[in-house]
Amino acid sequence: MNLKDKINLSTLPKHIAIIMDGNGRWAKQQGSDRIFGHENGVKSVRDTVETAAELGVNYLTLYAFSTENWNRPQEEVMALMQLLVHTINAETKTLNKNNIRLKAIGNLKSLPTDCYNELQEAIENTKNNTRMTLVLALSYSSHWEIVDAVKQIAEKIENKTLSVSDINEDTISAHLCTANMPDPELMIRTSGENRISNFLLWQLAYTELYFTEKLWPDFSKDDLYQAIINYQTRERRFGKTSEQIN
Ligand code: FPP
Repeated sequence: MNLKDKINLSTLPKHIAIIMDGNGRWAKQQGSDRIFGHENGVKSVRDTVETAAELGVNYLTLYAFSTENWNRPQEEVMALMQLLVHTINAETKTLNKNNIRLKAIGNLKSLPTDCYNELQEAIENTKNNTRMTLVLALSYSSHWEIVDAVKQIAEKIENKTLSVSDINEDTISAHLCTANMPDPELMIRTSGENRISNFLLWQLAYTELYFTEKLWPDFSKDDLYQAIINYQTRERRFGKTSEQIN
């Protein structure tokens, strides 16, 4: 029995989020520069998107560039942006062929103009696709997102379109970049780091976390299957007792 057949399709996570980590270390192991690692990471992105869509996952969110990544050497930042523009440009056709909608979350206005324009064009060109939504987190961090949500809410209070007593959890969710998306049920991080790193802090409140030693360019279809199989062995209690769940 291959790994794919061990997956119970009726309890598939509807939303999977991934911190793609380890490109730099992978490149170092190959005796190459960090950019080579990112270029090879694109192959894993392609495989993962294809596999998730084939299985029937509804949302796949990939942490492609964090707010903190702007502090990397300028050369690496520029190369990553070029790679993103190039990949988005090259993959739009395939996204359409596979009925996949592209979305992006983060401080998108801070992206270089060509990257921003390319992204908006791909989002527009894929907006009617329905099989799966691929969400790229770009210039994203949860702290930025939460501060931004607080500002939006404060403005509404100031101009009296919202009152303080009406603020609840749904109000916060509705002002995050992920408004109208289900929270992830499974979050995968590659490269052996056991951290969340400012990723979807509000949305991951009850998400199952899965950490693997695999470096991102080595992350394969089987690794995604393995993560889902592991997720399906877990009892999700949401604060209730085991007896209440069963
Ligand atoms: C983390 O590895 C990876 C990134 C910051 C960038 C991820 C980008 C890609 C996989 C390329 C393009 C993506 C898309 C969606 C088209 P790291 O550099 O932090 O590795 P290290 O921890 O080993 O140094």
